[in-house]
Amino acid sequence: MDHFITFIVGLLNKDHTIGLARCPRTGKDNIHRSLDIRTPTSFDNFYFRNLLKNKGLLHSDQELVNIASTDSLVKNYAADSSRFFKQFSKSMIKMGNIKPLTGNSGEIRINCRKIVLSQRQHWRLKEPQAFIRRSFTAVCSFQAKGQLSPGYYSSTCPQALPIVKAGVTAAIKNETRIGASLLRLHFHDCFVNGCDGSVLLDDNSTFIGEKTAVANNNSARGFNVVDNIKAQLEKACPRVVSCADILAIAARDSVVQLGGPSWKVLLGRRDSTTASRSAANTSIPQPTFNLSALISSFSAQGLSIKDLVILSGSHNIGLARCTSFRSHIYNDSDIDPSFANSLRKICPRSGNDNVLAPLDRQTPTRFDSLYYGNLLGKKGLLHSDQELFNGNSSTDYLVKSYAANTKLFFKEFAKSMIKMGNIKPLTEILGKSESTAGKQIEEHVFIPARKYKKQV
Ligand code: HEM
Repeated sequence: MDHFITFIVGLLNKDHTIGLARCPRTGKDNIHRSLDIRTPTSFDNFYFRNLLKNKGLLHSDQELVNIASTDSLVKNYAADSSRFFKQFSKSMIKMGNIKPLTGNSGEIRINCRKIVLSQRQHWRLKEPQAFIRRSFTAVCSFQAKGQLSPGYYSSTCPQALPIVKAGVTAAIKNETRIGASLLRLHFHDCFVNGCDGSVLLDDNSTFIGEKTAVANNNSARGFNVVDNIKAQLEKACPRVVSCADILAIAARDSVVQLGGPSWKVLLGRRDSTTASRSAANTSIPQPTFNLSALISSFSAQGLSIKDLVILSGSHNIGLARCTSFRSHIYNDSDIDPSFANSLRKICPRSGNDNVLAPLDRQTPTRFDSLYYGNLLGKKGLLHSDQELFNGNSSTDYLVKSYAANTKLFFKEFAKSMIKMGNIKPLTEILGKSESTAGKQIEEHVFIPARKYKKQV
């Protein structure tokens, strides 16, 4: 990963193939000197050749050949300008893709130095009546806030947390595994366009939802539990608590109920008015992913390598189907042979796709850190689990430290869950055009858990 970052930095530094830099020891701060001493006005690969002769103008330039991990790249581009050109254009596209505001986020400026009036300001100044109407609806309905907070429902629905907790407790009493399923549901919600309750939506005439995406089909569970909790909440405080928040609270309560850590769930998410099977197919990581694909998948959500290792620790509870671990037990070498053999008995090369095995072979219904110990013994059930530890992987040290220290794992798990729960929540009148904003306010929060009913 580090190597990759240096690689990108290196490539983009090659803008120094053209241009000038300034200076003597003191004064003359604005004197210019060529960044590429040979061809400062032509875009070529001489910059790299300069670096190989220790003639990089800036400290940061020359650093690229002093760091062993980038030496070979510099040599490569010094020797092959067409390769440099090809990689340069790729990296420029990548850089231009850094968090763009698209759709209805942000605005189109009239003068690039000045912001244009926001929709709210526009209404307030140009359409005061409309502004008052909209603000009143927003405040009365659900006290929209820009940021999530733990006390979001304390005045509008003080029963919210106890109701969810009671629902989760009853569900786990009925079937212990459901705690794991609810935790996973929150993860699958957050990874697809943010934690917005989209995973709960049934298909309708405008979209195919996420329930039939590869990772969810015949696999995601717990929808009825959420429906029941939502029904209770609608009785207690109608149209106040979002489905996305129910998932976040239920995930925490499940972990606590099964013996894991607790944390203050940040609340105030609003529900999406759409869902996307194709987004679910691209955004939810697959059990066949290697470490670098897992890292990319998490990094696309703003989550770190550490978050990846910690949140994968969720696999210390719950079950997986034969189809999810078949290729690991038949094709991989980084698996304990007797462990693989025992699994082959229940999961044949073909058939029995839905036969289940515990993700943590020792304590599948107790939230603890034994999952990491399994990985150290090459007894991870999924290929993606074992990728986190292979004796030679950049994440080995994290696995070792959580295997050795449950307290540390619990502490970090709580932190990473809060971070995951913060993935792009809908919190304001975001992403809605002015003409529909009023109606969308009504639709946003008050969607029954499973149905999206279009308001006319
Ligand atoms: C790192 C990437 C991940 C991959 C590739 C992955 C993949 C999977 C797969 C394939 C299953 C079994 C599904 C089946 O066979 O039906 C599973 C189960 C599960 N996953 Fe993950 N997962 C990942 C990360 C996470 C995260 C971040 C969480 C929670 C924060 C999580 C929580 C769970 C739980 C609790 C189960 C058991 C669910 C049950 O028993 O119903 N997973 N995961």
